[in-house]
Amino acid sequence: MTRDMVFSRFERFWHWSQAALIIHLIMTGFEVNGAYEFYGYERAAELHRFNAWLLLGLSVFAIFWHFISGEWKQYIPTTDKMRAVLRYYTLDIFKKDSVHPFKMTPLVKHNPLQRIAYSAFNLMILPIIWVSGLLYMYYNDWPDIGMENVPLALVAGIHTAAGFAMLVFLIVHVYMIFTGKPLMRYLKAMITGYEDSHD
Ligand code: HEM
Repeated sequence: MTRDMVFSRFERFWHWSQAALIIHLIMTGFEVNGAYEFYGYERAAELHRFNAWLLLGLSVFAIFWHFISGEWKQYIPTTDKMRAVLRYYTLDIFKKDSVHPFKMTPLVKHNPLQRIAYSAFNLMILPIIWVSGLLYMYYNDWPDIGMENVPLALVAGIHTAAGFAMLVFLIVHVYMIFTGKPLMRYLKAMITGYEDSHD
């Protein structure tokens, strides 16, 4: 068995705090939207705005870290091994002794499917949620930026749609976490930082 440190202390801190903030933003956001009741509307809206600022702050921090460490390169999309990875997730994963075609290393942490999924998350879902959320927050200032004729429902709709995309991402992401062999392999790597290769 080989043991590699793949996720640094910062990456683990960023991953888990982002996860906690996003789960709480989904909970409070969909309460504001009227899907269910837990905190009560006013409290949910207040917590949502507070968590939103924390997520924005964390994102600024993470963007800075990715650029100075050069780790942003881990997300450059590639088609190398894409067919093998797609075949694995659709067919081979259900076979008893199948082995994932991609081996995670400190230099190449993400398989080609992850690179595309995380790039879509970082470059589309997150920015759409930030921009629409900030516009929503500063609705009273819209006349100052020439947006007085834009319906609030449009921005709210875009924000909610991005919220649904976030929810779908979360569900698929959690499913993927438990597709490791052994079961806790991926979760353990993101908690301890170490990837134990059993292959
Ligand atoms: C995972 C991230 C997020 C999710 C899932 C999410 C989801 C939602 C949803 C579903 C609503 C209700 C929209 C409606 O029915 O009109 C909402 C409201 C809102 N969101 Fe978000 N949101 C997220 C992040 C953010 C961020 C980053 C910001 C700000 C930068 C933000 C600011 C707001 C504001 C200001 C409201 C209106 C709440 C109020 O009435 O004060 N959200 N959000």
